[in-house]
Amino acid sequence: MPQTDVIIIGSGLAALSVAYHLRHKHVKLITKSTWSESNSMLAQGGIAAAVAQNDSWKNHFEDTITAGCDHNNVKNVKYLVQEGPTELNEWIQRGVKFDCDQNGRLLLGKEGAHSHHRIIHAGGDATGKELTSFLFNQTKSYVQIIENEIAIDLIMDQNQCQGVYTKNKQGEVKSYISSHVIIASGGCGAVYGQTSNADVITGDGIAMAFRAGAELSDMEFVQFHPTMLYISGKCVGLISEAVRGEGATLITQNGDAFMHNIHYQGDLAPRDIVSRTIFEKMEKGNEVFLDITAIKNFSTRFPTISALCKQNGIDIASGKIPVAPGMHFLMGGIKTNENGETTIQNLFAVGEAACTGVHGANRLASNSLLEGLVFGKRIANYLSTLSNEQPDLRKESNQIKQLKEKPDLPTKKQIQEIMTTYVGILRSKTGLLYAINWFEKYREYISIQIFNVKDFTINEIEIINMLTNGWIIAMSALKRTESRGGHYRIDYPKRNDLTWQGKQVIITNSEMVMEV
Ligand code: SIN
Repeated sequence: MPQTDVIIIGSGLAALSVAYHLRHKHVKLITKSTWSESNSMLAQGGIAAAVAQNDSWKNHFEDTITAGCDHNNVKNVKYLVQEGPTELNEWIQRGVKFDCDQNGRLLLGKEGAHSHHRIIHAGGDATGKELTSFLFNQTKSYVQIIENEIAIDLIMDQNQCQGVYTKNKQGEVKSYISSHVIIASGGCGAVYGQTSNADVITGDGIAMAFRAGAELSDMEFVQFHPTMLYISGKCVGLISEAVRGEGATLITQNGDAFMHNIHYQGDLAPRDIVSRTIFEKMEKGNEVFLDITAIKNFSTRFPTISALCKQNGIDIASGKIPVAPGMHFLMGGIKTNENGETTIQNLFAVGEAACTGVHGANRLASNSLLEGLVFGKRIANYLSTLSNEQPDLRKESNQIKQLKEKPDLPTKKQIQEIMTTYVGILRSKTGLLYAINWFEKYREYISIQIFNVKDFTINEIEIINMLTNGWIIAMSALKRTESRGGHYRIDYPKRNDLTWQGKQVIITNSEMVMEV
């Protein structure tokens, strides 16, 4: 049986950041598809860091906490934003080419809820791809990359993680024993029908940790990105918030710009507010567009988006891009401390799969690539201080019970419909109870360690993981009887605890106004 020091599950930026800094260890990186299939590769906007002369980590800190609706882990936020500029500089020294002006100064974009221009980008709108590919190329010579194997369950001895079971496309099940396991497999965007996430993001790592008994946190906080390209009733890709940062405006089919009546930050208001406003406009029968006529060099600044529009028959010369909100980011996840440790011994989590508390109830734009880099390095540094004691294999003993028979599973589409309709942008007790009752029909699959997932096909395992994530999000959303950030309850619409630059902000039915 293969043995190793560290197993990393996932291949996005957070996974590669840990791997990069563990050159001296024996590391295996296991990914269910090819290494390049990750949300990080799709990230357009960039990396937020207070590098401008008129900016400071304190401003970045305040913006992160305000967007996060005071639900953040303050200590971890401080660490993130203080480390940001240093981290960025280190990658520039290593050779990452971020976009600069003619004088070699970093070009800084602006995104929602940022008080300053501080978004560093690469390849125009291909930051995630540029950075993730760079890390992969730096890392691949000393990390063993295992592609096309889905991690299906953790190998456990009581509360100690000893490794992971995987399954490949031929149905072969393998066991990998390791001193430490790091879950870096992203969030669970695919549980919703409309999402900016890669199709492979079915919440596998989160469900696997839950089955093993790890504590999860903040699962009700789901961020919907306001502007996905919307074609024939389907979201087909992301239109970065940086587009609004460069001057685009949200309008209805009649050309009416509406965000300035809703929030004093207008089109760059926090994402939850923009998404709810668009959602409500669409519920009333409107179509919503981004008016991009103010952006002169659109195709140079946004080559990826221009290509996406072209592929989908949208002529950017028309100045209008049809948009709708879609699931973008899970603020919750596997609960970790500042070193990435979960409540299970030897099990770590990082990136979107983890909940370090840095994003609070609503993530500030472009903080997630930064989180992946900063906390990836921190976990690697911490792991470097630990011994590589191999688990005692005689103790490997998952308490797996077999289901007597294999009951019918729903389809992925059915799960997505339930989540979008009842656990989406607007939630209510009645809707959440409906969703929970629906999920309860599949309760046997969701319970911790009650069945042997190895007997299931990869598609069935993904469905089980989606059911697990969906049920947990719905249960957590029912329990949180308030509206906050990415969790909006129409039966608890008022929240008077948010302040912006010292002034109180009030929400009345999704309309947010600053008290004067
Ligand atoms: C975007 O480009 O709008 C997405 C960036 C992010 O979610 O951080």
